[in-house]
Amino acid sequence: MALILGIETSCDETAASVTRDGRQVLSNVIYTQIALHEVYGGVVPEIASRRHIDKIIWVIDAAVREAGIAKDELDAVAVTYNPGLVGALLVGVSAAKALAYGLGKPLVPVNHIHGHVAANYIAHPSLEPPFVCLVASGGHSHILNVKDYRDFEILGATTDDAAGEAFDKAARVLGLGYPGGPKLNKLAESGDPAAIRFPRPRNGFDFSFSGLKTAVINYVHNAEQKGGGYSRADVAASFQQAVADVLVENTVAAAKSVGAKAVALAGGVAANTALRSAMDAAARAEGLRFYCPPIELCTDNGAMISCAGYYNYMAGVCADLTLNADPELKIM
Ligand code: KG4
Ligand code: ZN
Repeated sequence: MALILGIETSCDETAASVTRDGRQVLSNVIYTQIALHEVYGGVVPEIASRRHIDKIIWVIDAAVREAGIAKDELDAVAVTYNPGLVGALLVGVSAAKALAYGLGKPLVPVNHIHGHVAANYIAHPSLEPPFVCLVASGGHSHILNVKDYRDFEILGATTDDAAGEAFDKAARVLGLGYPGGPKLNKLAESGDPAAIRFPRPRNGFDFSFSGLKTAVINYVHNAEQKGGGYSRADVAASFQQAVADVLVENTVAAAKSVGAKAVALAGGVAANTALRSAMDAAARAEGLRFYCPPIELCTDNGAMISCAGYYNYMAGVCADLTLNADPELKIM
C-alpha cells in the first residue's frame, strides 16, 4: 500500500491531495485563485506565485488532515515540476522538497500533462493502458497514445493556440471575461451550433485554432460594424462546435490509426459539455470505449498529480533536492 501526497501549483490552482495506491482519493483540496485574476482578464504570473506562497502550507495541511493520516505515514511526496508558469511551479516544488527532506521520504517529480491523463485512472478504477487520450488545456493540446502508465507517444498536437486558449480568447471577444471556457460553455447552451459555419483546420492528426479565433473576431466585428446585431449565444455554440468537431475527428482518427480500443479525455477543456458528448458519440459509433473524468478532475487538481506520482514512485522515479521547476512543454 502506498500513500502519496500530490502537490500542484503550475498555474492558478493551489492544490494538494492524498491518494492510496494511485486510485483511491483520500483528500483533494483545491484553493482556486480565479477570483484574484478575474479583474485582469487572465492569470497574472507574479500574483499567482505570491498567492501560492500564501496558501500552499494551508492546502497541504488540509489535504493530510482530511485524509485522516499523519504526515509521516506518507510514502512519498509528488509534485508537478513541469510544464507551467515557472514562478508558480517553483512554489510547489520548494514546498515538496522541504516536506520530503523533513520527513525523509522520496520526492517524486510529475509532469503536469501525465497528471491530466491520470485523472482518468481515478475516475475509472479498472482503466489500464493502452488507450488514446486527448489532453486539452489552457497551455497545451495533444493527442497521446498512452502505451503504458509512463510511456506516451504524441500522435497529434496543436500547431498554434491550445484549445483552452482558443476558448478563453473567443470568450473575451464575446465580453465574457476570465475564465472564458466555462462561461462560453454556459452561453453556448442557449445558442445554435449550426448557425455559423466557422473553419475547422486540420493537418493529419494536428490541428490549429488561430484561424478559428480570427474568424470569430471577424464575425463579431463585422456584425458590430453593420450595426445589425448578432446572437452571442449562436457565436459561442458555433465556435464550440467547431473546436469539438476538430478535436473529436482527429482523436478518433488517431485512435484508429494505432488500433486503439479506447479513447479518453483529459485537461480543463475536457470539462466542456459539447466536447464530452461529441467524443462519447463518435467513440460509440467507432466501437471504441470512452473514458472521461468528472469535471472537477478535468481542471487542475492535486489528485491527478498524486495518481501520476504513484506510477512514477512504483517505477522508482525519484528526484533529489536539486529538482527545479521547468516551464518548458515536454511530454517525456
Ligand atoms: O487544465 P487546466 O485547468 O489548466 C491548464 O493546465 O491549462 O485548463 C484550463 C483551461 C482554460 O483555458 C479554461 O478556459 C478551459 O480549460 N476550460 C474549459 C471549460 N472549463 C475549463 N473550456 C471549455 N469548456 C469548459 N467547460
Ligand atoms: Zn492543467
